[in-house]
Amino acid sequence: MSTVIDRDAEQANQREQWEGGANIGHVVQPGELDLSHDVILYLDDITVSFDGFRALNKLSLAIDAGELRCIIGPNGAGKTTMMDVITGKTRPDEGKAFFGQTLDLTRMSEPEIAHAGIGRKFQKPTVFEQHTVFENLELAMKADKRVRRSLFARLTAEEGDRIAAVLERIRLAGAADRSAGLLSHGQKQWLEIGMLLMQEPKLLLLDEPVAGMTDDETERTAELFVSLAGEHSLVVVEHDMAFVEALGGKVTVLHEGSVLAEGDLAAVQNDQRVIEVYLGR
Ligand SMILES: Nc1ncnc2c1ncn2[C@@H]1O[C@H](COP(=O)(O)OP(=O)(O)OP(=O)(O)O)[C@@H](O)[C@H]1O
Ligand SMILES: [Mg+2]
Repeated sequence: MSTVIDRDAEQANQREQWEGGANIGHVVQPGELDLSHDVILYLDDITVSFDGFRALNKLSLAIDAGELRCIIGPNGAGKTTMMDVITGKTRPDEGKAFFGQTLDLTRMSEPEIAHAGIGRKFQKPTVFEQHTVFENLELAMKADKRVRRSLFARLTAEEGDRIAAVLERIRLAGAADRSAGLLSHGQKQWLEIGMLLMQEPKLLLLDEPVAGMTDDETERTAELFVSLAGEHSLVVVEHDMAFVEALGGKVTVLHEGSVLAEGDLAAVQNDQRVIEVYLGR
């Protein structure tokens, strides 16, 4: 139960960030991300204990630049905790976590990590319901500390174009002037993804993005993610196997805080250990 409350607090943090309230020390410039070995995220032997219980147990993982990776595994496997470590919310007891070749995530604050180019989508949408879709994207862009400008400054033509491009991408171009509160659950999820995209993240972390979506919305979300790969790297946690299949990327199975299996979906689905702990339930 306590974790639920905790995650709500985390969403409040996210809102604070959108609203420009986060206090950022050293602002990492996007150019500082060193992708010379084509690996954007590298976790090595990460251990996280909660009162002696190992939520992550020597977890090692590498994500390539531009990759679309799915993480699956039973409840409590450590998937969300892994995202907490990557975003600096939870500090590992042991192990290394690097963004590109040089940025040590275990030594950066949450806002520094966000501004280095790691965007996170939480399970519940956290859009500003009383604002329009367009305004939500505008707010997300202006909360971006790499661009030092006032919330009240007029949009430049280039900024307007960027918002239009994101609206198109998240299939909300026809709803730009609608209050976000009136959107369907799926559309709110897309809007929040759009808000992340306004900050031009290099790596996107998405925790159960299609939970509660209709089949049609789920399919469209898969298309969106596939279209984002390459330009962005994505790590997607999901239980919906049809969605994982539609994404088509490499799949990592977590179990008891470690990697149990890794490969394409067909291979992990035929892995006897994976069937026992997860798929055969
Ligand atoms: N802040 C915390 N304090 C204590 N235990 C925690 C905390 N966060 C996570 N845990 C525990 O760590 C384990 C891993 O949890 P985590 O939320 O990472 O799993 P998950 O793979 O995301 O599961 P799900 O599929 O249900 O979302 C669970 O047993 C959970 O109860
Ligand atoms: Mg989780």
